[in-house]
Amino acid sequence: MPENKKFADKTSALPEHVAVIMDGNGRWATERGLKRSEGHKEGAKKVPVVANALFNAGVKTVSLYALSEENFSRPQDEITGILERIEEFIAAFPKLFKEGSVRLRFLGSVEKAGEPLCSVIGQAEKDTLFCSPFTLNILLGYGGRAEIIRAARLLSEKNEEFTAENFEKELYTSGLSDPDLIIRTGGEKRLSGFMPYQSTYSELYFCDTLFPDFGEEDISAALSDYSGRNRRFGKI
Ligand code: IPE
Ligand code: IPE
Ligand code: MG
Repeated sequence: MPENKKFADKTSALPEHVAVIMDGNGRWATERGLKRSEGHKEGAKKVPVVANALFNAGVKTVSLYALSEENFSRPQDEITGILERIEEFIAAFPKLFKEGSVRLRFLGSVEKAGEPLCSVIGQAEKDTLFCSPFTLNILLGYGGRAEIIRAARLLSEKNEEFTAENFEKELYTSGLSDPDLIIRTGGEKRLSGFMPYQSTYSELYFCDTLFPDFGEEDISAALSDYSGRNRRFGKI
């Protein structure tokens, strides 16, 4: 079973890699008669809460879907607001997590964030390169199909053999395990481009809570639900 080999011993009650599709900020604000940007501000406050809850539970890798490639077609002021929240998050990062314990990675067409954020991101990735044991991935300007096409192009440019192993090295997620559990807040039951290659055997958990209302109890509920799943990976 070559391509699913990395799942082979993943029958643990605790997921190693958890992803969160952080959806519902806009509706949270609209319901309160506020501008959508206020929803993103409130959602941003939950990012360290959610990541720390997962790390404290023993999850090693957390991937947060912050901005998709398609989201760039939203009004410019909304995008600017989201990018400002990301810049604030990076500035606060050393205070938000246990010192030296979290490696920060950004996955996606990060250059679309423009300068100076792009350089700030590069510096944060360098500064945390040797931090362990946790990894926090922020998906920014991420598109699942774009990631696959990019990886295929990079691999063909290298003139290397087209194997799963070589191909996976060219994905944004190179070196990471695949997500065991994908949580989506905000009630929609779809992945909206989230890691199509890596999610083939992920467990999916959908909850109605809008992301600004999402917190430690929701994380506990999702982890508890996961612990009761029966992952078979095509076997009997
Ligand atoms: C936040 O949720 C996720 C992003 C795309 C930035 P939304 O902004 O999509 O909120 P809703 O779905 O409109 O409520
Ligand atoms: C998915 O949310 C992307 C992020 C959470 C960043 P969207 O709100 O963009 O997804 P759709 O449009 O409802 O599918
Ligand atoms: Mg949405």
